[in-house]
Amino acid sequence: MTDMIPLAVPNLTGNEKKYLDHCIDTTFVSSVGEYVTMFEKMVAEATGSVDAVATSAGTTGIHAALTAAGVKQGELVIIPSFTFIASANAVRHCGADPWLMDISEDDWCLDPDLVRAEIEKNCEKKSDGKIYHRDTKQRIAALMPVYTLGNIPDMDQFRQIADDYELPLIVDAACAIGATFKGQNFGSLADLSVLSFNGNKTITCGGGGAVVGCNKELLDHVRHLTTTARVWPDYDFDEVGFNYRMTNIQAAVGVAQMERMELFVKKKRVVRSFYEEKLDLLREKGISFFPATDGGGCWFSGIVLPEGSDLSQAKELCGKLKEYDIEARAFWKPVHLQTPYKNCPHSEMEVSEKLWQRIIVLPCSTNIVDVELEKVVQSLIGIMI
Ligand SMILES: Cc1ncc(COP(=O)(O)O)c(C=O)c1O
Repeated sequence: MTDMIPLAVPNLTGNEKKYLDHCIDTTFVSSVGEYVTMFEKMVAEATGSVDAVATSAGTTGIHAALTAAGVKQGELVIIPSFTFIASANAVRHCGADPWLMDISEDDWCLDPDLVRAEIEKNCEKKSDGKIYHRDTKQRIAALMPVYTLGNIPDMDQFRQIADDYELPLIVDAACAIGATFKGQNFGSLADLSVLSFNGNKTITCGGGGAVVGCNKELLDHVRHLTTTARVWPDYDFDEVGFNYRMTNIQAAVGVAQMERMELFVKKKRVVRSFYEEKLDLLREKGISFFPATDGGGCWFSGIVLPEGSDLSQAKELCGKLKEYDIEARAFWKPVHLQTPYKNCPHSEMEVSEKLWQRIIVLPCSTNIVDVELEKVVQSLIGIMI
């Protein structure tokens, strides 16, 4: 039996085992330990941030970041509908609702022109200086773009919108390790950015996340919130906190992964270019490729079926690839179509609705080898031509 070429699996051939052994040998398996501190330093440096707060997951990191930014019960947070459900869930964990907006076709990220137009059309400024949604009466509490696939959208525009309407700018940067904008790391682009180190990410801790940025005070508040808001040395707590701290075991894996970050990000970009070059002839069949911004992290790679194709066709193609022992998968279903968020305010969704059913993610692990890549390409060509 031949092995399946997997979609995106962890690459654990560095120091992961050695550092995990060290955790066991020293008994530092919980949230106090040298690897957590080391991992935070590495992530801060890699993202151009003044600090990083390691968390138990990306979702918990976003929840803590939104809470630190002041998002409260009954408020609205602007996010793209085309994202992983965790972006919306983190908003709901604050008791707030997502205000779902469409993406731009160029980078699959929240469309800044649309965000401005929607705010202008639907919001009014009240005497407290804050903006409120006219129909739902909810205060707009934050703006949270997502760096889809590791693509960084025009953050100058988002910064301007955030400044104009006095909104905290938080980014779901779950998939974006290694991504740059105008040649700069992304740590300073938003008030807070949140990474995920889930198993399918470019860098993994098994599970985990990190909140990064350049506002030390805000990051200190995030750290405080993620560690139960305890005021040491006694059992004093000054607000409702969370137990969201990363463990030393997770961080041990993370440190070993970060040691090879540049290699991993480079490989992700190579894989993306390989598919785009070798499958170029499929363009005449209406196939296109995942967008990549300048400096984009290229977390996932794959193809987009011709306009008008639907999910059943995408699944059919994945099924055919499976017969060749190739794992391929459809991608995110927009949040406005998901049961818990059907009643949330949202913009027109022309791009998201036209796009989401046509996406096929192809194998793109950082340890994928040339013969495997070649097999994916030849199989696809065989199926489609
Ligand atoms: C865009 C996006 N946001 C948030 C998350 C949530 O991260 P985690 O699984 O670490 O909670 C993920 C990935 O899992 C993601 O892809």
